[in-house]
Amino acid sequence: MIYSLGIDLIQTNRVKKALNLWGEKFAAKILGEEEMEIYRTKFNKVQFISGRFAAKEAVIKTLGAFMDNRVHFRQIQILNDLYGKPYVHLDGEVRERVMDKEIKVSITHEREMAAAVAIITGD
Ligand SMILES: CC(C)(COP(=O)(O)OP(=O)(O)OC[C@H]1O[C@@H](n2cnc3c(N)ncnc32)[C@H](O)[C@@H]1OP(=O)(O)O)[C@@H](O)C(=O)NCCC(=O)NCCS
Repeated sequence: MIYSLGIDLIQTNRVKKALNLWGEKFAAKILGEEEMEIYRTKFNKVQFISGRFAAKEAVIKTLGAFMDNRVHFRQIQILNDLYGKPYVHLDGEVRERVMDKEIKVSITHEREMAAAVAIITGD
């Protein structure tokens, strides 16, 4: 069963401007600890943050069906499995709300845009 669906699109130049202005402080507002470690290894940091930003916004849209309080970007991490496929890691409080349901996400990026969709599925 699909419980909810979310989508987001972002212009990468907005991320580029913020990164130029705030540097790693901006990245650390968006990314969780494990994502930050990956971010530091990335050549294309704008693309990485843009994809994560879109994915987190898409996940936050799906979570609207389960939560009435604000969810912070850092409570949602988008990591990659051995094949590069993204998966969602939620921190404790958010995970408790979603319980045994699964959140799936898919990301795409072009030079000027990044987009993501997310769904919550379960029995
Ligand atoms: C996975 C693939 C389709 C990505 O397409 P692309 O046009 O190069 O790049 P996009 O910008 O659209 O997508 C990139 C995102 O795809 C996602 N991705 C990577 N590998 C993936 C996989 N195996 N399955 C699902 N999503 C994947 C990641 O989220 C990645 O962004 P991130 O690294 O910032 O997290 C491409 O790299 C590919 O064909 N890989 C080899 C075959 C493969 O693994 N296919 C998937 C299963 S059949």
